[in-house]
Amino acid sequence: MMQILRTVAELRTRVRGWKEDGRQVVGLVPTMGALHEGHLSLVRAAKRGCDRVIVSIFVNPTQFNNEDDLKKYPRSEDADAALLAAEGVDILFAPSVTEVYPPGFASLITVSGVSAPMEGERRPGHFEGMATVVAKLMGMTQANRAYFGQKDWQQLQVVKRMVADLNLAVEVVGCDTIREADGLAMSSRNVRLDALSRAQASGLARVMGKTAAAIRTGTDIAAALDQGREELRLAGFTEVEYLDLRDAAMLDPITRLDQPARLLAAAWIGGVRLIDNIAV
Ligand code: PAJ
Repeated sequence: MMQILRTVAELRTRVRGWKEDGRQVVGLVPTMGALHEGHLSLVRAAKRGCDRVIVSIFVNPTQFNNEDDLKKYPRSEDADAALLAAEGVDILFAPSVTEVYPPGFASLITVSGVSAPMEGERRPGHFEGMATVVAKLMGMTQANRAYFGQKDWQQLQVVKRMVADLNLAVEVVGCDTIREADGLAMSSRNVRLDALSRAQASGLARVMGKTAAAIRTGTDIAAALDQGREELRLAGFTEVEYLDLRDAAMLDPITRLDQPARLLAAAWIGGVRLIDNIAV
């Protein structure tokens, strides 16, 4: 039976019980809810790799740099809980904002370098808030493994950097991006797309695939990226914030394909900001 817990004290008691029972490996899947198959793929990976699985649902206010985005963020805890119970999750941890950030809270984790470009540049404060809450969730759950989606590639690199830098005793597992049939990466924000924008949104994955293929087959990188940005505009994207080729781990810009590389993009369609990335 899945338990829904809302306080750190209850969570700690429960995890201590598991560890005394000899059920050692605890997996954590941090989420902000409005769960879809992308989230559930992380839950299934955690179920396969761990003895016990904790999923957190917490819409973390400190990582939203836009008040309106936070207000509009979809919330569906009852439906989420039903999905997680069906997957055999042991604990759904769904704390309140004051449980996570009690009065007097004063710490913030800054991961420099990998946090700086792309999302870091466009969403000031986002990665500080994200890193802080992920470190807190790791501390609260005492998890041995934590599961993240490659969908948020830069986030995954920031988390890996933080865990290494702070010597956290957690293994970070990155899982494949789950997509809709037309290639659109699943995202809780996709529900905000109207019918036309939803149809056009598949252009992001399509253009990225084409751009990656062009780069792999030797097209000049700058020219391929310029063409990709233009094709996104033609596909209906009103603003292309970035379409960049970067070193896969450090996220430095690259001009030659002589190391594992990642193509990353953020673009707006129908008033919704979409992000995606693929290996090159
Ligand atoms: P959220 O957007 O809810 O995503 C939770 C996890 O699900 C993240 O690791 C994300 O990369 C993964 N995910 C989302 N869509 C996916 C998809 N289509 N395929 C595979 N994985 C996918 O990311 C966050 O929440 C927050 O920043 C969080 C880490 C919970 C900290 O607040």
